[in-house]
Amino acid sequence: MDNPILTTLLNRRSVRRYQPDLPSDETIQAVVRAGQQAPFACQMYSVLLSRKKKAPYHAPLLFTICVDIYKLERFMALRGWKLVTNDLSLLFLAIQDAAYAAENMVIAAESLGLGSCFLGAAPYKARRIQKEYRLPQHVFPLVQLVMGYPAESFPPRPRYPLAFTLFEDEYPALTDDQVREAMAVMDEGYLAQGYYRKQNVKIVLEDDRQETFTFENYSWTEHISRKNGQWYASPDELLEQLKACGFSWEASDLPPA
Ligand SMILES: Cc1cc2nc3c(=O)[nH]c(=O)nc-3n(C[C@H](O)[C@H](O)[C@H](O)COP(=O)(O)O)c2cc1C
Repeated sequence: MDNPILTTLLNRRSVRRYQPDLPSDETIQAVVRAGQQAPFACQMYSVLLSRKKKAPYHAPLLFTICVDIYKLERFMALRGWKLVTNDLSLLFLAIQDAAYAAENMVIAAESLGLGSCFLGAAPYKARRIQKEYRLPQHVFPLVQLVMGYPAESFPPRPRYPLAFTLFEDEYPALTDDQVREAMAVMDEGYLAQGYYRKQNVKIVLEDDRQETFTFENYSWTEHISRKNGQWYASPDELLEQLKACGFSWEASDLPPA
């Protein structure tokens, strides 16, 4: 199987070094327009752009893709409707609307010779982004996306084996060996690229745990285990950020029926 779209999809990589050249307005509009054409539940997202600030990885463009229920409320109001659907249900759909649009932007950019990289910290910086971009209530920064012309070249990153992802008819009883095999594909793939060594990234161990890894063996499954084994045990920080942006599903915060 081979066609230009599959080739673009299979060769996409997150780019972390950029040329300083600013993509044209026409290019930016083409990318966002392709994002808009993603499937949607209710178009519950907005895309913020910044070309003024120093973006991470010295990228010339910084997009902030926001979940946006505000525009839905606005047009419903013009039709004489009040939004009654709960925020959790709306958020499930709005995250999908925003994410599919964001990924369409990534692929459109790739097809135009641009590179990009998502930045996942936006939800934890929501209040700051809300102030900076003067967001109305019910708009929440889901993810940021830096973009520009790449200044680095390297092969695509590995993925789990297809058999560890695609399960037909029934979810299989995974053996430890199958899990280890999938881990090895990922770890060996990232090690072969010197992925963490090049970025000089190793998540620090907390609680007196002794560091035994070097960049010879620190790879993806250790990195992801350290993240999810140490960070954000409580949902409170994220819930606070959501609340500051007008999202809540706690009974005490809901308007009376
Ligand atoms: C939701 C999300 C958050 C991400 N956050 C970051 C980030 O904060 N910094 C970063 O350098 N890359 C980030 N990435 C990029 C991933 O690290 C990257 O997609 C993954 O390692 C696979 O590599 P590839 O995109 O080159 O195939 C993020 C990706 C996603 C989808």
